Amino acid sequence: MKIELLRQADLELVQRLVQLDKAAFGQGGMNEWQLVPLIRHGRVFTALRQGEIAGCVQYMLDWDNPRSAYMVGVAMDEKVRGRGLGTEFIKQTLQILADEGLAAVELTVSLENTAAIRVYETKLGFARTTIRRDEYGAGEHRVVMTVSLENFAGRKE
Ligand SMILES: CC(C)(COP(=O)(O)OP(=O)(O)OC[C@H]1O[C@@H](n2cnc3c(N)ncnc32)[C@H](O)[C@@H]1OP(=O)(O)O)[C@@H](O)C(=O)NCCC(=O)NCCS
Repeated sequence: MKIELLRQADLELVQRLVQLDKAAFGQGGMNEWQLVPLIRHGRVFTALRQGEIAGCVQYMLDWDNPRSAYMVGVAMDEKVRGRGLGTEFIKQTLQILADEGLAAVELTVSLENTAAIRVYETKLGFARTTIRRDEYGAGEHRVVMTVSLENFAGRKE
């Protein structure tokens, strides 16, 4: 699996990433207007496998706490889930952020998303900090999770 930091908002690639996000999140998925600013001003990484996009993760800096990043979202192509690739992909991007000097990453996830929580908590060491009720609409509760990047720095193979 090859990990790439996107520097260009190439239209075809952006459309493929929007499609990946919609397949994973439905109406909660990102559109071009949301993804392109993140490519240009945040950090968007892709996972490539045999030349194909296998996953995408997006981060933005936290304005009030600029040594922290917020993970906007992550999605692996359905065909490759459950093989450890998502964990490896996120881990490698956390190592890159740590080597850039960031100290922590925060994210939110739906309480029902047991697969993602398992990856964040058990495999990557994120801890639950709080629950935000009705965050994205009535009944759309989110668990807030954070991880210190201390243990990720300098570990990139
Ligand atoms: C979350 C996601 C990125 C993880 O990627 P992945 O490549 O499947 O991750 P991994 O294979 O490294 O690990 C998945 C773990 O969840 C487990 N899992 C899978 N489906 C599960 C389910 N329905 N319930 C509980 N655990 C589940 C797997 O067994 C695996 O753990 P294990 O290796 O200990 O068995 C991927 O599932 C995904 O894209 N989901 C849709 C989008 C999403 O929910 N993103 C996160 C939103 S914040």
